[in-house]
Amino acid sequence: MIRRPLVAGNWKMCGCRSDIQALVDGVLVGLGGEIAAEVVVCPPAVYLDQVMSQIIGSEIKIAGQNCASAEKGAYTGEVSASMLADVGCQYVIIGHSERRQLFLEQDKTIAEKFKLIQANGMIPILCVGETLEQRQSDNANDVVGGQLEAVIDEVGVNAFFDAVVAYEPVWAIGTGLTATPEQAQEMHAYIRTLVARKESGVAEKLRVLYGGSVKPENARKLFSQSDIDGGLVGGASLEAKKFVAIVKAVI
Ligand code: PGA
Repeated sequence: MIRRPLVAGNWKMCGCRSDIQALVDGVLVGLGGEIAAEVVVCPPAVYLDQVMSQIIGSEIKIAGQNCASAEKGAYTGEVSASMLADVGCQYVIIGHSERRQLFLEQDKTIAEKFKLIQANGMIPILCVGETLEQRQSDNANDVVGGQLEAVIDEVGVNAFFDAVVAYEPVWAIGTGLTATPEQAQEMHAYIRTLVARKESGVAEKLRVLYGGSVKPENARKLFSQSDIDGGLVGGASLEAKKFVAIVKAVI
């Protein structure tokens, strides 16, 4: 297999100490031994340490949901990439549509975060995706391509040797609406083609995850598409049984 599939659970701003403890226990027990996919969980920052101590010795990895675009200093409320690395994160999500829409994050800032994540030895999971309006007006490819190229222009295509892209159509996030496997495959192939035009070796190795209402019922079909290399799962990752079923949909 050129690309090991990855399934990441994005818990967003959900849970408390006890919920999270129970969730991680459930995932550990449910997953059991050997698994085909790489498994990553993305707890709220204050619980990273707690989760890290629970998953030690297992195959599960932890990720940040975001990081600051500056290295350190007077940025009240921010969490730096080096802090995430320090508590054991191996991945960091950036450019999630909730950050772009609610916190007005721009491509340039996202590219800065991308660099800091790699500078601290971690792997960025760069989210891209179009809104319903953009899809309906036939602009989905331009929007997604633009978000991706804006970062490539800043960091260079070779930086994507150690990066993951997550295609998350905004209209499918938390809505229960899922892109059909064909719609998702089409966009994933487009993303890979864009990268291949710059550097084919990077494109071949690049994992492109699908995100947006992934559930146990649709995971297998999505993950069996040739350019879908796993998923970024929100809502369903908060229930151990569902998350485990999604991870096991990778065969
Ligand atoms: P969802 O969220 O699975 O709840 O749609 C996905 C995401 O936002 O990463």
